[in-house]
Order: sequence, then structure tokens, then C-alpha cells
Amino acid sequence: MNNTKPTPGKPAQIIVDGKTLECPTFVGTENEKAMDISKLRDSTGYVTFDNGYANTSPTTSSITYLDGDNGILQYRGYPIEQLASQSTFLEVAFLLMNGELPSKTELEAFEKEIESHQTVDESFLKFFDIFPKKAHPMAMLTGATVGLSTIYQTEVDPANKDFTKKNAIRLLAQFPALTAAAYRHGKGEKRVAPKKGLDYASNFMHMMFSQNDSYSVPKEIVAALNLLLILHADHEQNCSTSTVRLVGSSAANLYASVAAGITALWGPLHGGANQAVMEMLEEIQKDGGDIAKTIAKAKDKASGFKLMGFGHRVYKNFDPRAKIIKVACDQVLKTMGIQNPLLDIAKKLEEAALKDTYFIEKKLYPNVDFYSGIIYSALKIPTDMFTPMFALGRMPGWVAQWKEMVEGGTTKIGRPRQIYTGYTKRDLKRG
Ligand code: CMC
Repeated sequence: MNNTKPTPGKPAQIIVDGKTLECPTFVGTENEKAMDISKLRDSTGYVTFDNGYANTSPTTSSITYLDGDNGILQYRGYPIEQLASQSTFLEVAFLLMNGELPSKTELEAFEKEIESHQTVDESFLKFFDIFPKKAHPMAMLTGATVGLSTIYQTEVDPANKDFTKKNAIRLLAQFPALTAAAYRHGKGEKRVAPKKGLDYASNFMHMMFSQNDSYSVPKEIVAALNLLLILHADHEQNCSTSTVRLVGSSAANLYASVAAGITALWGPLHGGANQAVMEMLEEIQKDGGDIAKTIAKAKDKASGFKLMGFGHRVYKNFDPRAKIIKVACDQVLKTMGIQNPLLDIAKKLEEAALKDTYFIEKKLYPNVDFYSGIIYSALKIPTDMFTPMFALGRMPGWVAQWKEMVEGGTTKIGRPRQIYTGYTKRDLKRG
């Protein structure tokens, strides 16, 4: 497995208030340069201030490489475009979690292992019954994911590699059943058990939609789902993955760490954007399709509105996932004979934004969430299930990142500093 240490570079100097710190520097395999400032406070009394961690790397990682200026995304060195067109989701999951693509025999063994762990005990699934019908599935999934740890509670110690291996498989294998259970609960429908002999995507669709034994998933649906899951599988140190690592850095178990990642993903600035995009498009449609009005509102800071599915912390160029999804969107709708007026609205919105100076100057492009919802809708997945679909895809990434951190053995507990701006010391005066 390629997991080289970064190459040391020439030390850098930080001079502040007449004090000098020699900072070690190092370079990653894609020439990303970093400066180790961990001794800055001890040497100079200063801490760094970096709102939103915009310029902070809390870790090295050999899983995913992202070049936001050039729109490049690679999992373990493989370009996302190649994986998206030539792999299955479980192959990509194996790659992320183990470092290399599986051989045919390894893949078959991996698929069998996933299949053998895909059933979640019905007594545990009763957990979903306590929620209100209208409960958001992301809330239910957070609870259910951390809840799984209670089943395996004697085998969750992160220091035990065998446990980590087992829990990685269990989580990946059982998350589809949890996701489908959340959906069925909202619909007031009976849960459907996983079926042996189906691939990962088909089995998920079976648990979601099967009403009787004759249910089978059309191959274009399986292909579209497989593609979306691959495109969401990892994205280096994004908000939810950093959350998984931060929680895991306290030696919390995998289920607890991933459950925290799910809550981070739920926010509309992160994975929740796919739901927000669809709601925005529906709103525009209701409002008579006024694109110019929406663009103007997104540019008006006082409105508090942002163009959902647009912009990214790291991509200052096209998000390569959005490019693939846009093409897939047209293809899926065409193959399935679906006409969705929201797709036209989305395209017009994109076209208008990309011509507008505000979006050009701020380098705001459509991101992964802009078109994905239109495909999910074509697959009959309701809007409030879009973010759970993102979570389903992101699972191998969260697991791989947590595993890398735990097995690396060098991660310290995540504990940022702050600049205190409250009252200075004052005395309590009573009576
Ligand atoms: N619509 C209008 N203005 C925007 C948008 C947008 N979607 N995104 C950024 N801007 C403006 C922002 O107001 C700021 O303007 P100014 O410099 O005048 O203050 C400038 O562009 C830079 O944006 P930022 O908010 O400082 O950038 P960030 O890196 O902190 O935030 C973001 C990135 C993704 C949270 C943000 O672009 C956003 O809120 N986008 C909409 C939500 C969205 O689509 N999220 C999904 C992200 S991709 C998938 C994922 O991570 O899950």
C-alpha cells in the first residue's frame, strides 16, 4: 500500500515579536507543501488563527487527493472519472479501505463478507418505530448508527485491528438496511429484509422499494446508483470526515465517530445541500421560473440566501463530480423516459450563474449536490432521503479515514486553541 511519509523540506522561519521559530516543512506526493507550526505557541506565545480551518491540515493522508484549482479528484491515485466509469461501489469501497483495488478473488470474498453481515436484527430495527412519522431520516440514521455499537459493544476497542476490520465490514454492510428502515418508517411501510445474491445497489433498492417477491431493479437504476455512490465515496478532509476523525481522535469507537460524521453531513452547507438544491429548484418553479430573481437574491448578502449546490471551499474550478453527474443526469432521464422540468431550471440557473461576474470573480461553480437530486428523484428517492444517500456513499470514506487515523497510531487528540474574547476576571458580588 502506498502510504509514504511526506518528504522533509528546508525548514522555514517564523519571526514574531523578535522571536524566531524554525518550522519543519514537508512535501506530499502531489507536491503539496506544509509547515509544521505545532511549536509556534511554545516558541513565540502566538497561536494560529484560521477561521473554518481554511488553511490547516490536521493530518497527512494517503487516501484521496484533491486539486481544487485544476478540478482533480483521485482515490488512492485513481482518477474519479476512471473509477466512475469502470468500477463498482464495493470495489471502490475496498480500494479506499484497503489501499489497493481488489483482485477478482478478493472482490468476490469482500462481496460475500458484506452479504453475510447485511442483516440487522429486527429487534434492533424496532428502534425506528419510536420516531415520529415525519422524523428526518438523518436524525434516525445518526441514532441507529451509534446504536449499532451497543450490539458489538465488547468488540469496539479502536486499538484492536481485528475489531476494526469487523466493524468496518459491519457498518458498510448494515448501513443500507438502516437507510431503508428510515425511509420505510416515514412511509409507514413494513421493513423488508435484505436479499442474498443481489449486488450492493440492487439490494439497497430492494429494501427501499420492494413490495413483493417479484420486485427487480432495472439495470439503468443500478448503474445510476452505483455511479452516485462512487462519486460520494470520499472527499478527503471535508466537514463530516474531519468530524469523524476529530471524534475518533478521542479513541471513541467507529460507530460513535461515524454517527458524528452523519450529523455534520446533514447541514445544508455540506451534504444537506442536495436536499436544499431540490427545494430551491421547486421554489423557483412555483415562482414561475424566474432565474434572474434567484441569481439576484444569491448575490444580495442581506437576503441570507445562497445559490445551493454552488461553491466549494476547495474547488475554485469545476467540481469533477458535478461534471460527471450532469452528463449522467441527462442520460438517466433519457433512458428512463423521464422529463423533469426541474432539470431545465437547473441548467438555466447554472448557465446564468456561470456568466455572472459575481460567480465568476468568486470562482463559484456547481458542486456535487447541484444535479444529484434530479437523478435521485428519477430513482423515486424522495427529497428528504437525498442526504442519507450521500451518507450511504460516503460510508467507505469515513471508515477508511477513521481506520487510517487509528492504525497510523500517531494522531493526537484533536484539541484546537481559541482566542478568548469574553470578560476578564471579575469578582462575584452578593448581597
Ligand atoms: N451563493 C452565493 N454566494 C456564495 C455562494 C453561493 N452558493 N458560495 C459562496 N458564496 C460567496 C460568499 O458569500 C463569499 O462572498 P464574500 O467573499 O463576498 O463574503 C464568497 O463567495 C466565498 O464564499 P465562502 O462562504 O467564504 O466560502 P466557503 O469556502 O467558506 O464556503 C460553501 C463553501 C460550500 C459552504 C459555500 O460555497 C456555500 O455555502 N455553498 C452553498 C451550499 C452548498 O452547495 N454546499 C455543498 C458543498 S459541496 C458538497 C459537500 O461538501 O457536501
